[in-house]
Amino acid sequence: MEKLIQEAKIAYMRTYSPYSKFGVGAALLLKDGTIIHGTNIEISSFGLTNCAERSALFSAYSQGYRKEDIEKIAIIGNTEKPISPCGACRQVMSELMDLDCEVILANLSGDKMTLKVRDLLPYHFSSEDMKYGK
Ligand code: THU
Repeated sequence: MEKLIQEAKIAYMRTYSPYSKFGVGAALLLKDGTIIHGTNIEISSFGLTNCAERSALFSAYSQGYRKEDIEKIAIIGNTEKPISPCGACRQVMSELMDLDCEVILANLSGDKMTLKVRDLLPYHFSSEDMKYGK
């Protein structure tokens, strides 16, 4: 767990956040041992900003990995308590990761907590909910 948090910290150091100056880092551990980093990337048109967790997951999927390949994710930021992923990232994690996958939340002070994707977004919207669509 410590190793993955350290990897998330490497990604945190790579933040591109000139507007908020708030860095976030994420590290995905894959079942084949590969680690994929993600950092938050801010754009002057703020709505285009990409969070660290999404950067890591989109990168993994772009490399051909899928949810069954993912072991866990660690996310870190300079927060008082272990960082709390935003709602958009919770929705993305609920689709791109197994609901039982471990999510490690950390901060720079060494606080951490582990929970599952399903705990982060109970009653999440999913493709199942679209089956009655026209
Ligand atoms: N941010 C993340 O990268 N992940 C989160 O879950 C929360 C927010 C980023 C987005 C933005 O660059 C900065 O933190 C401030 O919102």
